[in-house]
Amino acid sequence: MRRKVIAGNWKMNCTPTEAKALCETLKPLVAGADADIVFCVPSIDITTVVEAVKGTDIKVGAENLYVKDSGAYTGEISADMIKDAGATYVIMGHSERREYFKETDADINLKVKKAIEKGLTPIMCCGESLEQREQGITLDWIRMQIKIGLQDVAADDVKKMVIAYEPIWAIGTGKTATTEQAQEVCKAIRDCIREVYDDATAEEVRIQYGGSVNAGNAKELFAQPDIDGGLVGGASLKADFGVIANA
Ligand code: PGA
Repeated sequence: MRRKVIAGNWKMNCTPTEAKALCETLKPLVAGADADIVFCVPSIDITTVVEAVKGTDIKVGAENLYVKDSGAYTGEISADMIKDAGATYVIMGHSERREYFKETDADINLKVKKAIEKGLTPIMCCGESLEQREQGITLDWIRMQIKIGLQDVAADDVKKMVIAYEPIWAIGTGKTATTEQAQEVCKAIRDCIREVYDDATAEEVRIQYGGSVNAGNAKELFAQPDIDGGLVGGASLKADFGVIANA
């Protein structure tokens, strides 16, 4: 039985002061959740949030990493820095990074491997645009993203990963994928992993849905057989995240 994982993606929101206050609001609301709860936060907030959630089961994640261990890469942060600051998860390949920062599937593959090498749990994102959905190439596109993103990643490492299916047209738009659409793609991701690896890997890897998850739709989405939780943007910054965590 896969344990659900509900992750908040704070994106570029919350100063350290605001982050501390948000943690105080959310802590009691997620305390009873029967799921792994992760706050993925801006890098400047990591130490504050790690401190604020001490003594709870809440895990902290970064929103990106750079694949080099150290050196002349102004503005970037390494896996060691993330880990030493106390975070254990890291998002990679979010569609906003693909779009605004031109990250490719090959870049994301390097990030997945670096995170695994350093003992961080990757949350690897994939998702199609509205145009791709209308062209009927959603599943082909997602399979390609998964296959390139996981290239040369061992089955035992894939088992410990989280994959987030986030249709781009559903992110921040209030337009959630229907339960059927979300389940269809999450199942296709699992089938793709079964094909590349084996049954055991496919059954263990956790697959989230993300894209306008809210207090009203979370329960039905998370009840789908291949949806093991959610990656939550906007609703992770308010009390609704407590409802989602308990869905
Ligand atoms: P949203 O964002 O919940 O605000 O749609 C999800 C995400 O981008 O991870």
